[in-house]
Amino acid sequence: MRHELEPLFTPFTCGSLTTANRFVMSPMTRNFSPGGVPVPEAADYYARRAKMGLVITEGVGPDHPAALGDGTTGGPALPVMYGEAALASWKSIVDAVHAAGGKIAPQLWHMGPIRLAGTGPHPEASSISPSGVWGPFDKAMVPPDYLEAVKAPGVPASDSEIADIIAGFARSAAQAHHLGFDAIALHGAHGYLLDSFLWAETNHRSDQWGGDRLRRTRLAREVVRAVRRAIPADKPIIYRFSQWKLQDYGARLAETPEELSMITSALADSGVDIFDVSTRHFDAPAFGGSDMGLSGWVRKLTGKPVMTVGGIGFDKDLQSSFMEPTASIDNLDEVARRFGAGEFDLVAIGRAALMDADWIGKVCRGEPFKSFDMSAYGRLD
Ligand SMILES: Cc1cc2nc3c(=O)[nH]c(=O)nc-3n(C[C@H](O)[C@H](O)[C@H](O)COP(=O)(O)O)c2cc1C
Repeated sequence: MRHELEPLFTPFTCGSLTTANRFVMSPMTRNFSPGGVPVPEAADYYARRAKMGLVITEGVGPDHPAALGDGTTGGPALPVMYGEAALASWKSIVDAVHAAGGKIAPQLWHMGPIRLAGTGPHPEASSISPSGVWGPFDKAMVPPDYLEAVKAPGVPASDSEIADIIAGFARSAAQAHHLGFDAIALHGAHGYLLDSFLWAETNHRSDQWGGDRLRRTRLAREVVRAVRRAIPADKPIIYRFSQWKLQDYGARLAETPEELSMITSALADSGVDIFDVSTRHFDAPAFGGSDMGLSGWVRKLTGKPVMTVGGIGFDKDLQSSFMEPTASIDNLDEVARRFGAGEFDLVAIGRAALMDADWIGKVCRGEPFKSFDMSAYGRLD
């Protein structure tokens, strides 16, 4: 292995979680869970990637009927974290990853306004959003027919619906804890439910769930607190956060470090242990006047451990990969440089880990990486 990469192969500890290295498999939706139950082959798929310090699963529906619909990448077979059959399947996945020497966290994902009504495990449930709006129509990063179906105005979530959602996250987190998952990851990014409450374009409320930037963090904070109460105090909560949304790639929750601090400090105070900072390019400067990426800013402002992601192994972003095959690059020296400068503690790998179960082995042996094409999405190898 190249000498510069050695620091990325040191252990990381947060509470009861210790990972063997700094690499994390980034959450990636698959479409292999008919009826919400991961197919048996999913255990090997995840176990093959257990040499990453931590595997974060695909997005998984918490115990709330409107959590999931058909995914934007197509397909009705998204998994849930409730019910005997799904929990038994997740248990075999956890056991397989542990047997292979790895650590695993589920990513609990409520689709909120992005859920296609009439689809998912509970098609009868109405989709949930803060103010019944999708956001701007002209910037969506979903197929046009999907946007057409999802953009119809809805009804703002009621207090009792919000209470049910919070309780559903807590129930599923408790189940995941009992199955032996090593941490709980929350999908608070990309315009889905938790993010849609943070974003002014989708949250027009003036009650206790809306208002200024800080007040708009309330649902996220309540979910984090409820999950904290449902699992042991030392089991880490990982919170994914992003500026960009599926509704608008150019969206920004925070224009300045001060605005960012308002959001991330509130989340850190409510119990987030690790921030998973989702960007398309891990090394893109987040604000003017500094080349520091968004993860570096979150680490500096909160003092919490931070995971970076986006474009590691590729110079083109995820959106381009949906359109055309994407050639690999080796930009690990820049990852190591920024890691050494203290910008982040963990490094999440998406497409490269989907394409190649042995990506981490190639890093260790100094072998070239595979290019990425979306046919990987149709396989569980
Ligand atoms: C097929 C696919 C599915 C994805 N599904 C999810 C998901 O369920 N939850 C999530 O937070 N991000 C999801 N992502 C985003 C990745 O976690 C990651 O942030 C993104 O691919 C950028 O990292 P990369 O440049 O290493 O691919 C997905 C990405 C891909 C390629």
